This record gives sequence, C-alpha cells and structure tokens, in this order.
Amino acid sequence: MKRLFLLPFYLLPVLLITGLPVTGMAQSADKIGNEFTAAISQFQLLSKNLPPDKLAQYSDHGQVKACGPGSWVAGFYPGSLFYLYSETKNSWTLEEGLRRVKLMEPEQYNTGTHDLGFMMYCSYGNLYKIKPGEAVKQVLVNSATSLSKRFNPAVGCIRSWGKISDTTEFRVIIDNMMNLELLFWAAKATGNRQFYDIAVKHANTTMQQHFRPDYSSYHVVVYNPKTGAVIKKQTAQGASDASAWARGQAWGLYGFTMCYRETKDRKYLRQAQHIASFILNNPNLPKDKIPYWDFNAPGIPNTDRDASAGAIMASALIELSSYVDKKLSATYLNAAKEMLNSLSGPAYKAAPGQNGGFLLMHSVGSHPANAEVDVALSYADYYYIEALKRLKDAGGRL
Ligand code: GLY
Repeated sequence: MKRLFLLPFYLLPVLLITGLPVTGMAQSADKIGNEFTAAISQFQLLSKNLPPDKLAQYSDHGQVKACGPGSWVAGFYPGSLFYLYSETKNSWTLEEGLRRVKLMEPEQYNTGTHDLGFMMYCSYGNLYKIKPGEAVKQVLVNSATSLSKRFNPAVGCIRSWGKISDTTEFRVIIDNMMNLELLFWAAKATGNRQFYDIAVKHANTTMQQHFRPDYSSYHVVVYNPKTGAVIKKQTAQGASDASAWARGQAWGLYGFTMCYRETKDRKYLRQAQHIASFILNNPNLPKDKIPYWDFNAPGIPNTDRDASAGAIMASALIELSSYVDKKLSATYLNAAKEMLNSLSGPAYKAAPGQNGGFLLMHSVGSHPANAEVDVALSYADYYYIEALKRLKDAGGRL
C-alpha cells in the first residue's frame, strides 16, 4: 500500500524542479529507507569488529582497522549512527553512538590538529541536532575554541599540519575548508563573532591561493607563518603538484557550498558552482560519476576509483542544488543521484555481512603513500548516509 506524505511547503519548489509525483515520493522514501535499515545491520556487524575503546577507521577487504579517538576519522562512525537514529529512531544506533562518542570527549581540548571540525562537528554536532543539551554544546564550543588557536592572522588561515609553534612553514590543505562548519556553528551558539571572522578569513585566503584558473585546487599551500607569503603549492595525497586530487575537489565543493549557506555571500556560491563545473564537465569523470582517485591519475582508466570522493560530491551537490536556478538545480541533483545510484549498486556497496560491516567499497586514503588504497573508509560511509538523507529531505528519490 502506498503511503501519502504531508509535504512541508518549502519542498514544493524542489518537487516542481524534479517533477516528482507524490506516489514517487513514497517509493523514494522507501528505497532510501531501505538503505538506512541495511546500514544499521552492517554497523551492528562493524560494532562487533571494533574493540569497545576504539572507533572505525577502515576495512581492507573485510579486515577492520580501528582507530583511537584522536584520529581525524574518529567522529565519522558515531556521526553516521546519529544520522541513522534521526532517520529511523532505532534505539541501538543512539546507544552505540553515545558509547563511541564518549571516547572522544577529551579531544575538545586538542589543539594539535586542524581536523577538530571533522572529528567533533560530525560526531557531537550530529548528536546536538538530535539531542540538544548544555553538555554537548559545551563540548562543541570548547572544540571550536581549540581549533581557533591554530588561526594565524598573518596568513589568514588555520594551520593544517604541524605544531602551532613552527615558525618556518605553515601548511594549509584544501580539506581544512570542512573544519569551518564547526566555527560557524559556534558563532551562532555563543554569539562570539570571532569564530565567524576566522572562518570567513580562512575561506577567503583559500579561495585566493588554493585555486587554479580552471577552478581545480592544489592540495597543499605552504605559507611563511610570519609574513603570510606563499612559499610553495604542492600535493601530499594527489598524483602530482599540478593534478586535481579527487577528494580535494570534493572538500572544496562541499566547503564553499557550506560557506554560502552560513554567510549568504554570493562569491562562495559562485566558487562552488565553478568547482562543480570543473568536476561534472571533466573528461576524466567516468560514466558512473564516481571519480578516479585523482582526475589526472596516471593509468586512467586502469586505476582506482575513490568512492569517498563520490559520496562527498553527491552530498555537496544536493545542497548546492537548493541555491541555484531551476536548470542548474536539475543538473546538480541529477548528477548527485547518478553518483548515489552508482554507490548503492553492487559495484560499490558491499553485500550484507561483508566488508567488515562498512557500507561502501573502493575508496582511497592516500595513493602516493600506498596507504588505504581500494578499501572501505568510515568517511565514505558517513557522506553516503548524509547524501541519502539530504536527497530524502529534498524530496528526491534513488
Ligand atoms: N583530510 C584527509 C583526507 O581527506 O584524506
């Protein structure tokens, strides 16, 4: 029996764009809902493969690697569980998420990493969305304060790698755009404008220095920490200094879309659109729209895909589709749906009970370091679930 949905009025424009009939909505919700149910079963297996004091890092063809709470990927497993709780109200997801996120509490004072946004906003931030409370809010505000300590006004950025005290080199990676969401949140939660100003300054400097004329981005920009002068532009995880590392393009797309949401400054929207255009019109983007690990990887088409980049891009494109005109919106949504249809098919999604309990196969951590190549990654699963949720919330269907 088909169920009818009561639609919030703000979804009507999306319906007009996608041309979805209401009965299609019911099917849509069911198919995406099935993905959430299947994800819970997988994570119940993953939970058994993890020691109680650890979090999920990756699975190499079923061999699960756990990580400690200080890893940059620590927050994705609890964050995924909180997303699943918000969609299903399955009590195990909340209990398991709370057990795992508790391990991360000391990280709120960690000033040794720029990844605190990933770590704390994807975990505690998602918890706050489903169970707002003073204690969780305080963890997030403390995390934003710790992250802000890595900001250098001479450079106009938050330092990515290295010690705050390093006076020789100041490295910033494109990934760091993602950590700004925590600062935007903290500015709203506390009324402290400094968090907002740091985020905006970092975004502006990155927009100026990280991008090439074709709107692909460098992975790493190295600055002089005293003067802010650029020393060099290079890669760490990409194929070469001049190449377009796929996940880096995804972080940029997501980061500038999020900056537009938080500031309504149209220069960020334009930047996100240019990045989307680089990705979607790239001759090396495969037919199934899941990128190779680098758009300029040697050996294309005989090289690895990066499902994590595809999941991040899909999630970002769904959000971006809500900020643009009807024609572009349809382009972005259709591309995101193609990505999600690929990821939810047998080429990328693990069979039930396989993959150590991770959802997606075929991601790449760092090809140059030969680390985590063609594995399942916790952040691929996180952004896959987020993208499905965003598609469902937008009234779309798989
Ligand atoms: N932030 C590290 C990565 O994307 O691999």
